[in-house]
Amino acid sequence: MNIGHLTFDDYPVFLAPMEDVTDIGFRLLCKQFGADMVYTEFISSDALIRHISKTQSKLEVSDEERPVAVQIYGREVEAMVRAAQICEEAQPDVIDLNFGCPVKKVAGKGAGSGMLRTPDKLLEITAAVVKAVNVPVTVKTRLGWDADNQIIVDLAERLQDCGIAALTVHGRTRAQMYAGEADWTLIGAVKNNPRMHIPIIGNGDINSPERARQAFDRYGVDAVMVGRGSIGAPWIFQAMKHYLNTGELPEKQPFDYYLSVLKQQICQSVERLDERRGILHSRRHIAASPLFKGIPDFKPTRIAMLRAATKEELFGIMEQIYAK
Ligand SMILES: Cc1cc2nc3c(=O)[nH]c(=O)nc-3n(C[C@H](O)[C@H](O)[C@H](O)COP(=O)(O)O)c2cc1C
Repeated sequence: MNIGHLTFDDYPVFLAPMEDVTDIGFRLLCKQFGADMVYTEFISSDALIRHISKTQSKLEVSDEERPVAVQIYGREVEAMVRAAQICEEAQPDVIDLNFGCPVKKVAGKGAGSGMLRTPDKLLEITAAVVKAVNVPVTVKTRLGWDADNQIIVDLAERLQDCGIAALTVHGRTRAQMYAGEADWTLIGAVKNNPRMHIPIIGNGDINSPERARQAFDRYGVDAVMVGRGSIGAPWIFQAMKHYLNTGELPEKQPFDYYLSVLKQQICQSVERLDERRGILHSRRHIAASPLFKGIPDFKPTRIAMLRAATKEELFGIMEQIYAK
């Protein structure tokens, strides 16, 4: 499977763009565990063209994480074109356009999934960005605005006509936000439309090796993208890749192995930000990690971990879990 000049193996597994999650440290970690492509969190086109320094820092990519996609969002053609040109200077492998974000502050203003209500504008932006840059441009979107407006099959054809190099479909409507189960039948309909020839990346609820396999076998997608399943569990990519390539689940590692991965991630965050912000930033991963699921009477320990203010305190609590 190819996206522009990039070539992937038979069962590519990508790390989804996630705000406040897919920073450079987490992306590198997921890459080490076998993610075939990683995405930055979405970046506001308006903030980029205003040279807001916090926004510009989100553009930082490293050679070790390649291939890496930088994702932008916005609702104006000119701003998106200019933002894409700024992104191009950071030399990502792919520029991805976000037409899927459901949160009110974005979609309510007509950006992200709000664009699904103005498909002509969405297509105008896409065509203009494709024309303006030399990097492959991809799109990530949802099935439609709501259950009565699931426009994705037709929209996918029109996006392809704009010259995009691949399309990611999250199998939910905007109205669904993140609730319920993703509907993969429409992702399959996009992929199996004989008019489509660009790669289709399926996204939504791929949180185990078995589900990844099913997505390829049942719906024929060219790649899968993993979001929430990777938070607090970057090793999921290794398990998925192993299963997809061999048909067998990898041997489970001891608890302290996985714990050391989380600790490594916390150290990276502390180093990159500072102790306070690094710990705060790591909390989402600790809270979501499957590593601590099912440990009896764990609630007080979980609360203590999420309250810890320093690395020393946090690691002290973690070491006690391991000692149990
Ligand atoms: C915390 C969080 C932040 C997200 N931020 C973004 C984002 O910046 N850009 C984007 O396209 N999607 C974003 N998403 C959506 C994910 O990329 C993905 O489409 C969605 O979570 C469904 O995949 P999953 O079921 O594997 O999590 C975000 C999701 C979560 C949970």
